[in-house]
Amino acid sequence: MSESTGPRPALDLEAFPASFAWGTATSAYQIEGAVAEDGRAPSIWDTFSRVPGAIDNGDHGDTACDHYHRWPEDIALMKELGTDAYRLSVAWPRVVPGGDGPVNKAGLDFYDRLVDGLLDAGITPSVTLYHWDLPQALQDRGGWTVRETAEHLAAYTTAVAERLGDRVTRWATLNEPLCSGWIGHLEGRMAPGLTDLTAAVRASYHLLLGHGLATQALRAAAPGARIGLVTNHSTVAPASDRPEDLAAAARMDGHTNRWWLDPVYGRGFPADMRELYGVELPERPGDAELIAAPLDWHGLNYYFPVTVADDPEGPVPYAREVRLPDVPRSGMDWQIDAGGLEALLLRLTEDYGVRELYVTENGSAFPDTVGPDGAVHDPERTGYLEQHLAACARAVRKGVPLAGYYAWSLLDNFEWAYGYDKRFGLVHVDYATQKRTVKTSGRRYADVIRAHREATAG
Ligand code: FCB
Repeated sequence: MSESTGPRPALDLEAFPASFAWGTATSAYQIEGAVAEDGRAPSIWDTFSRVPGAIDNGDHGDTACDHYHRWPEDIALMKELGTDAYRLSVAWPRVVPGGDGPVNKAGLDFYDRLVDGLLDAGITPSVTLYHWDLPQALQDRGGWTVRETAEHLAAYTTAVAERLGDRVTRWATLNEPLCSGWIGHLEGRMAPGLTDLTAAVRASYHLLLGHGLATQALRAAAPGARIGLVTNHSTVAPASDRPEDLAAAARMDGHTNRWWLDPVYGRGFPADMRELYGVELPERPGDAELIAAPLDWHGLNYYFPVTVADDPEGPVPYAREVRLPDVPRSGMDWQIDAGGLEALLLRLTEDYGVRELYVTENGSAFPDTVGPDGAVHDPERTGYLEQHLAACARAVRKGVPLAGYYAWSLLDNFEWAYGYDKRFGLVHVDYATQKRTVKTSGRRYADVIRAHREATAG
């Protein structure tokens, strides 16, 4: 990239190993569009985005960034940024439109071309199998509240791995099961839009079981696969040192962090949370071992920390988020605190014994505009990026085996219930014309990547 953004950022880039993966991340429903092409069937997000009031402005993913047709241009953008890694997700309703049963060759052909295009550009693909777009046909049969869905995930995984496993080695099973489980089934703000604790706990169980079964399927179909799980976490602080608030913080930590990590790292589902939820888990002999199958890496998605107070009358986990005054916030109204990223990287390493980590998502939304000069200046996103990369460098210096960082996101895209208003891209998208414009933050990222390569060359 010719345009420089000024002096080299004051980042401890030498902390990162020479092999460090510099990437961007996206997901299928958020960017692809082409929802009815080449045999794709509806997912729960096609359905949910038609529910009146579910999505800001009535937005939906019908066209999104039109990546299904514009992927060569998008790969060129990744190259322009100087990235060497890209995290994408495969849309289950393209590959197995009915959820189970026949495989749609045309759906796999798309990912085949995309993977080849990435490899030709020198970009290592990291493929996530499930980033929330469950085939609607499976939702109609109970979705994640039933065990069969976990089994169908494994069958779909086999189909994808048999087709791509000769070229893709970095695989993730699920993206953020917390959001599918809690936000989709308990809070109702994401597909399938339920508000039912029993459904949510059962869904959380079957998601993690699905992760275990998909891991097994990947090991069988793609022996060279390096497999991870992508989870999102927040550091949790109590609003005061009152014992009630301390207990609320422990519950929120259980709900947000331990429920998703303990079973995967062989500790089983946490007893305090089982008791709190009071929902019997649909456990069968052998499940715990499947869920805790050894992984090759872990992916951490980090955006914000939370502060909570006791809320005995509120919803599970009876912990109310307290809005701190005078702290920096992004356009999502999320608190900005890069220290949370450092703390969570250390926790995964020290507490859970993870031996290879990626930051699989991290980024910020701000209301960008294209200036009269045609450029998109986004100093706040640039600052967020630099602060969080600095946090990564500190974590590495403290012994965290961090192998890469994927900025969320390559492009502005369909931000779920917030629609297109929330822009997370390093590249701006004009949805009327599909014109892409690299933002200042994208140029800064390119500078960082280049500087790191120079610092570690030879
Ligand atoms: C994460 C999701 C991702 C994106 C970012 C902002 O929770 O995994 O798809 O929406 O948040």
